[in-house]
Amino acid sequence: MNILVIGSGGREHALCWKIKQSPLCDRLYCAPGNAGIADVAECIDLHHSDEPGIRTFCTENAIDLVVIGPEAPLVAGLADDLRDAGFRVFGPGRGAAQLEGSKGFMKDLCARAGVPTAGYRRCATSAEAQAFLATLTPPLVVKADGLAAGKGVFICKDHTDAEAACRELLEDRVLGVAGQELVLEEFLEGYEVSFFALSDGKTVIPFATAQDYKRAHDGDLGPNTGGMGAYSPAMLQQHGGKAVRAEDDPAFTALVMQAIIQPVVDTLADMGFPYQGVLYAGLMVGRTGPKLLEFNVRFGDPECQTLMRRLRSDIVPILVAVAEGTLRDVQAEWDSRPALTVVMASQGYPGAYKQPTLISHIPADTATVTTFHAGTTRDFRDGALLAVGGRVLNVTATGGTITAAQRDAYDIIQKISWPDGFCRSDIGKSVDA
Ligand code: AMP
Ligand code: GLY
Repeated sequence: MNILVIGSGGREHALCWKIKQSPLCDRLYCAPGNAGIADVAECIDLHHSDEPGIRTFCTENAIDLVVIGPEAPLVAGLADDLRDAGFRVFGPGRGAAQLEGSKGFMKDLCARAGVPTAGYRRCATSAEAQAFLATLTPPLVVKADGLAAGKGVFICKDHTDAEAACRELLEDRVLGVAGQELVLEEFLEGYEVSFFALSDGKTVIPFATAQDYKRAHDGDLGPNTGGMGAYSPAMLQQHGGKAVRAEDDPAFTALVMQAIIQPVVDTLADMGFPYQGVLYAGLMVGRTGPKLLEFNVRFGDPECQTLMRRLRSDIVPILVAVAEGTLRDVQAEWDSRPALTVVMASQGYPGAYKQPTLISHIPADTATVTTFHAGTTRDFRDGALLAVGGRVLNVTATGGTITAAQRDAYDIIQKISWPDGFCRSDIGKSVDA
């Protein structure tokens, strides 16, 4: 099969790395890819917004499967356009992708499907927002409706901060059209788990779980980012007992599937939006059980890197089953060992950072440690590796325990020379209690 992956991040490097191992894969392309992806796939200079260009490329190169990594092209409808042109696609269409593209759409759909989630109100003016905020007790949650690359959620300690956030979004338009409508929410207590399910439009199956680290600095301090690290599987905290792996708790998986995932996929299908792709539910697990925080219509980044390291099965038949509607016949096999990713980012990220900056001495991959690339390119003059993005490298290790994986990942990071980069030093810390 000839396969095209759309995207240029660590998630897409991990997907390409895994797809390339499949005996079913003949030619593998990535648009546009990055310097690391170029080691496993042929990178093609096409942006995901160039839908006619991608369609022509697929026709000319007899592409059998397109895997769309990031949310923007899914929300823009690239999957529909390619399906309409007769291609097999892993990734939901425009209608279903509104789950991530509009928080208001997602909350209305959850209300209709009876999914447990935070109480909310959609608001388009500061007056409406203030009237609803007055009914809530802090902390207060203010969200931009549209896509904001992780920057659209404000957890506010009091009404003054919340009102300021609403004004900045609605009146000052600090996030542009993404903030022209807001979702205001009740604050949920608990701990977070990322839950991934696969859906072919009819059949929905649980896939895996992970824990990500959203804040920029150690101890969960600093601004929110796209993700500074992750491990998989996620751990569930037990009252008075040891934490257990989410995937070793069939009751948890069954509850999430029955209360959250299945009703959402069924409701989308009733609306004429069959879901074909991976559905990522961000959950808050509190005293009354898991509640839905957000949906993403794609793999998480860097969560995907940990999943690809743990997945034992060939991924290509899984992706094809999602695209063809034959997921019923699929079962994924996992490495019983956990995997962990540490993200190395440009100093200053998620704010402004210098670029390009030079990276050298990345150790070769081993049987248990892989360095995935995100924002990298090669200097056209001498082939030197350059950082050209916020999140740049994802050192991903599998180990007998999270602590062992953590040690191996940080050992590799020690050897990488990148004076302009930084990473958190506490990814996976204190998880193996
Ligand atoms: P979201 O992009 O909607 O997942 O929000 C980003 C982060 O904000 C989440 O991962 C949570 O840490 C936090 N968050 C979002 N909504 C809530 C809520 N209703 N209650 C508590 N924390 C929240
Ligand atoms: N790591 C969070 C996300 O991919 O949305």
